[in-house]
Amino acid sequence: MKQLGTPQPDSDVVNKEPRVLLIGYGWVGQYMGKLFTEAHYVEGDGIIKTQVKNEDDPQFVENCGKYDLAIIGVPTPMNPETGQCNVSIVEEVVNKYKDCVDIFLVKSTVEIGTCDRLEKKYNVPVCMSPEYVGETLGHPLLELDRTQFQIIGGNKYATRCISRMFQKVLHADAQILTCESREAEIIKYFENYWIMRRVGFWNEVFQAGMMLDANFETLRNGLTLDPRLNRTHSNVYRDNRGWAGKCLSKDMPALAFKMRELGSPLETLEFMIEQNAKIRKEYNDENQLMPNKPTWKK
Ligand SMILES: NC(=O)c1ccc[n+]([C@@H]2O[C@H](COP(=O)([O-])OP(=O)(O)OC[C@H]3O[C@@H](n4cnc5c(N)ncnc54)[C@H](O)[C@@H]3O)[C@@H](O)[C@H]2O)c1
Repeated sequence: MKQLGTPQPDSDVVNKEPRVLLIGYGWVGQYMGKLFTEAHYVEGDGIIKTQVKNEDDPQFVENCGKYDLAIIGVPTPMNPETGQCNVSIVEEVVNKYKDCVDIFLVKSTVEIGTCDRLEKKYNVPVCMSPEYVGETLGHPLLELDRTQFQIIGGNKYATRCISRMFQKVLHADAQILTCESREAEIIKYFENYWIMRRVGFWNEVFQAGMMLDANFETLRNGLTLDPRLNRTHSNVYRDNRGWAGKCLSKDMPALAFKMRELGSPLETLEFMIEQNAKIRKEYNDENQLMPNKPTWKK
């Protein structure tokens, strides 16, 4: 029963249809599961389950059935040698589930051009929706009721179907932008690039403050009085400089790889990846920040 004070999509009214399968049930998959509360989910073991509160008691679904939509939130790690985005798990699951899914929606961050390629290869609609939910404290887009927008890239028919599905589980103010899947893939990378540059900028303000005996908080407060500069990503942690984390660490080298492959390198990006790796040398990061053999070094 729905409890007062915990707003959520009303499963009886909006959520029996569409039939949704969440492929990958980690951070992103579970977040999508909060929107599509009746969705089934599957992980690497291939066992399809219903979403239940008690994780010790998952309910198994007898057989796969047919799904209107499959939302893919599987890992897309970096090739440690070159930095290229490895989309092999995305491809594997499209191939595996294509016969029981009408439309795929990729929430994983994928190499630009992946959705078009898979759509043609497997003859099934494969759309892209950049995911913005983060894992940091107080992330502005973490709460469902703050979901302001969805971007859905793909062919016209599929994006229209998916938009209708999202309309049912989002509030009326949320905007849905449809576009080409390639455009959605590019948007995701450049959103991360923008965040990375902001972190880099504020770290340089911090560095200048230290060298010039100026208080960083005063500089930050003064700079952000100008409404054109806001405070997002302006925290600088004295003992944790630069950027790392699950997403930027793999997505920045992947973007650099792709643009160099296209013969149009983003040299500022490449330089910033290197600078950041130098700054973070002492931190023993879990995630690799620089490819072993960056293509821009050849
Ligand atoms: N975490 C975030 O805040 C965030 C934000 C935006 C985009 N993304 C992107 O979303 C993707 C997933 O990220 P995440 O943080 O949710 O990862 P995660 O590691 O938390 O979850 C990945 C899930 O995929 C499952 N999985 C692995 N192989 C599978 C297979 N063959 N079949 C089915 N399921 C399989 C895992 O068991 C796990 O449940 C990545 O591409 C990431 O870059 C993440």
